[in-house]
Amino acid sequence: MQDAMTIETPILAGAPSPFCVPKGCYALTVTDVQHYTDTLFRFRVTRPQEFRFRSGEFVMIGLPNSDKPVFRAYSVASPSWDEELEFYSIKVPDGPLTEHLQKIQPGDTVIMRKKATGTLVNDALLPGKRVWMFATGTGLAPFASLVRDPETYDKFQTIVLVHGCRTVAELKYGEDLVAALKDDPLIGEMVDGKLLHYTTVTREDHPRQGRITDLITSGKLFEDLGLQPMGPEEDRAMICGSMAMLRDTKDLCLDHGMSEGANNKPGEFVVERAFVD
Ligand SMILES: Cc1cc2nc3c(=O)[nH]c(=O)nc-3n(C[C@H](O)[C@H](O)[C@H](O)COP(=O)(O)OP(=O)(O)OC[C@H]3O[C@@H](n4cnc5c(N)ncnc54)[C@H](O)[C@@H]3O)c2cc1C
Ligand SMILES: NC(=O)c1ccc[n+]([C@@H]2O[C@H](COP(=O)([O-])OP(=O)(O)OC[C@H]3O[C@@H](n4cnc5c(N)ncnc54)[C@H](OP(=O)(O)O)[C@@H]3O)[C@@H](O)[C@H]2O)c1
Repeated sequence: MQDAMTIETPILAGAPSPFCVPKGCYALTVTDVQHYTDTLFRFRVTRPQEFRFRSGEFVMIGLPNSDKPVFRAYSVASPSWDEELEFYSIKVPDGPLTEHLQKIQPGDTVIMRKKATGTLVNDALLPGKRVWMFATGTGLAPFASLVRDPETYDKFQTIVLVHGCRTVAELKYGEDLVAALKDDPLIGEMVDGKLLHYTTVTREDHPRQGRITDLITSGKLFEDLGLQPMGPEEDRAMICGSMAMLRDTKDLCLDHGMSEGANNKPGEFVVERAFVD
């Protein structure tokens, strides 16, 4: 137990206490959990006062359920000003972390390494007129943070949040988030008329159907929104999804004359994986 400190607070419901939190980690208390489908949920945890991150970054989280907890990368879905931290999560059957994480309840403990990092940050994009946020599945999470950050509205005139999922039910987290934003006392006015939310579904009926990449290639995305096709002068893009989605969407950004940026060299688009394969 040299590497750990003992905490005298509740752990997972029904699990023995006290438990161990590895060095260099925060122990966070779950405050809220909401399930959307049998594969998706969101949860909120307390935020340590000294923990700083930029909207769009990710952290490593785990559960204090063993001497060597499993850690996984998670985008912080709440904005940097929020008093709590929010996460939007997949439930993978037999997934080393999420088979347990999906069972958390308010009062339980989640552990988090102290450093946040990532490329889906406003700083990694050159100034522009519009920013396109292309997400599939849980790739929405970093954008749930960025669309709630006033800095995004200071930097861009138009924010287009494009979310593609297999089923209609998988759109719900994003839809609730955007609806709540419009009534938000802090940035509701900023968002009004500046945030466009475009959803598309690939495996069920929905008013807008097809992969994001196909909608870009055909031009339907731009027609539906009444916007010009993307270009390097006015448009910036952020992409978060599976490896295949990143590759295909990145190729389209390159075809539209945009170049990739990074934290140390801002560019016209940036990418980040939503999961490993
Ligand atoms: C930079 C980064 C940020 C991430 N942010 C998030 C996030 O905000 N929310 C989130 O749910 N996950 C996120 N992930 C994925 C996350 O790290 C884990 O893979 C996920 O929590 C599942 O963990 P697991 O141990 O249960 O299964 P794992 O062993 O990690 O995964 C098992 C398999 O499940 C599938 N899978 C894993 N994660 C996802 C996912 N998110 N969507 C669809 N299929 C998936 C993959 O096929 C994977 O091989 C992120 C990954 C990276 C690299
Ligand atoms: N979400 C579920 O209901 C579900 C159920 C069982 C298993 N899983 C497993 O979970 C993993 C992830 O599922 P997910 O639905 O979250 O993510 P996903 O497979 O990445 O699909 C999310 C959305 O992205 C689209 N997409 C996939 N590849 C793309 C590409 N190259 N370019 C553009 N769009 C692309 C999908 O369209 P298409 O529908 O055309 O692929 C779908 O609309 C998969 O490995 C899957 O085996 C998920």
